[in-house]
Amino acid sequence: MHTINKIKHTTNISNVLVIGSGGAGLRAAIEAKLSGVEVTVIGKRLKEDVHTVLAAGGINASFGNVDKDDCWQQHFADTMIEGYGLSEPKMVELMAKEAPELVTEIDNWGANFAKLDNGKIDQRFFGAHTYRRTCYSGDYTGRSILMSLINKTKELKIPVHDSQYVTELLVQDNICFGAMTFNIQNGERTVFLADSVILAAGGHTRIWRKSSSRRNENTGDGFYLALKAGCSLTDMELVQFHPTGMVVPEAIAGTLVTEAVRGEGGYLLNKNGERFMKDYDSERMELSTRDRVAMANYNEIIQGRGTENGGVLLDISHKSKEFIIEKLPRMYRQFLDTLMIDISKSPMEVSPTAHYSMGGVVVEPFEHTTHIEGLYAAGEVTGGLHGANRLGGNSLAEILIFGKRAGYAAALRSMNMLSQQRSPEVIKNAHDKIDSFIKNGNHVARPLQRELRDIMWENCGVLREESKLKDGLNKINILKDSIEHLDVRPDSEGFEDLMLAFDLEGSIMSAEATILGAIERKESRGAHQRNDYSEISQDMSANFNIKLNNSNELEVDKVDLKKMSNELSEIINNTQSITDFSGMLLE
Ligand code: FUM
Repeated sequence: MHTINKIKHTTNISNVLVIGSGGAGLRAAIEAKLSGVEVTVIGKRLKEDVHTVLAAGGINASFGNVDKDDCWQQHFADTMIEGYGLSEPKMVELMAKEAPELVTEIDNWGANFAKLDNGKIDQRFFGAHTYRRTCYSGDYTGRSILMSLINKTKELKIPVHDSQYVTELLVQDNICFGAMTFNIQNGERTVFLADSVILAAGGHTRIWRKSSSRRNENTGDGFYLALKAGCSLTDMELVQFHPTGMVVPEAIAGTLVTEAVRGEGGYLLNKNGERFMKDYDSERMELSTRDRVAMANYNEIIQGRGTENGGVLLDISHKSKEFIIEKLPRMYRQFLDTLMIDISKSPMEVSPTAHYSMGGVVVEPFEHTTHIEGLYAAGEVTGGLHGANRLGGNSLAEILIFGKRAGYAAALRSMNMLSQQRSPEVIKNAHDKIDSFIKNGNHVARPLQRELRDIMWENCGVLREESKLKDGLNKINILKDSIEHLDVRPDSEGFEDLMLAFDLEGSIMSAEATILGAIERKESRGAHQRNDYSEISQDMSANFNIKLNNSNELEVDKVDLKKMSNELSEIINNTQSITDFSGMLLE
């Protein structure tokens, strides 16, 4: 136990520290360990119950096992086109090329994907893919992947510490040397020192009222850590609304209803029983791009063709019960458990839900380095890969490919280091920040978090416009003032109050970054739909980076898109696209 000015903490030292015990973090840790260094993983949730367990429908790799013409080039083109040109081309190229190897590897590690009769991995349709490319384990693919990664970390004896809440990345002279944490159960503080740090702490979609993330996950804390450390975030306004979240019961509204339901043949119907996707994308119907299906559902609901509860219907009851239980076991159970609905007999009520942060920390494509030396990032916390509309199934590919790359690079940096940076002053400041929260006050974090979620849903939701965005920003500024007066009382029930206080601060900052980006992006592109700018604008073919300035205020900067090589442009030019996307709202 160390004491700095009477404040006690334990010190933990390793070569590589991984923040986040989801898929990206574990894959990074495994690679670092296999490269020959000592690794520590810390996460705020129990490792078996991190957000990756919710990933449902599948992971993309262009094996061509079912549709033999598939190839990495087509995966690349589909991803770029559906990202409306905003993706980082090199990152997309790496993902498309490396996915088959990494998917095979995780299958061999125990993910045990569904197989064809010939023993090869089966592949299902997912929206906007040219070919059947999505490999899967029923509708619990994320869980299969996570469990294989957990087993591998056990085999490699990599320590994974649960209940560790990271309050600060430790940075001195633009070099990251670790992280400060407290234990959510008992408040014990630990200074994790490391040569390299990998941030894999997820996104911020829980800050919308309807969200496919659960309580206390994806609260934007990863973005906040990165901003405070000096990183830039990119395209924070690009948030994917999944078309199908549960509508009722209210307490779990937004919970994911996997795209695999549509991939396996499900229909979307309005209250008049019409398969309305024919009016939005008559060719691809329910397997259109995710942004388009989300807007279609939204439009049907606001035009009065939705259900009484404010949803549309998703129906798979024309398939046999055996088929549904084999392909969609979790969905079958989810509706039975929460609503006593047998989806082999009745349709599901669904509506859009905040699902994925496509923006995030600016990283270099090959090693996922950030602007801070020694700090790497991987997974949903990063931006760049998905552009304005993520292809379903690409996020699980992303966590394996870029987790591995970041893990290797972080290990290499450690092995080549001659001396380590440390700063007692930075550590003391991190203690002071924690102490400043622990006091009696007149605001409680949980209801303020709920208020923020309502603001984001109302003011920066599926369909946006300037006046509402600005109103949202004003409301957020009022919320911000409450942070100073939070009531934080650690007690026999643990240090959850303290976690909620930090989470709220991170959520507010992430919300502000998102709204600032949304105001700047004066166009409708992919998931970012604006009532007042209904077309794609060439002038907006750019990324919007955001960072904290010297006065601790967020500043937005419009930056040029990354250039694509002629060879890659050629691949896209040779790909037929039916994405002509403007004025999506229909009467
Ligand atoms: O619908 C789903 O199963 C989600 C998949 C994804 O977001 O990649």
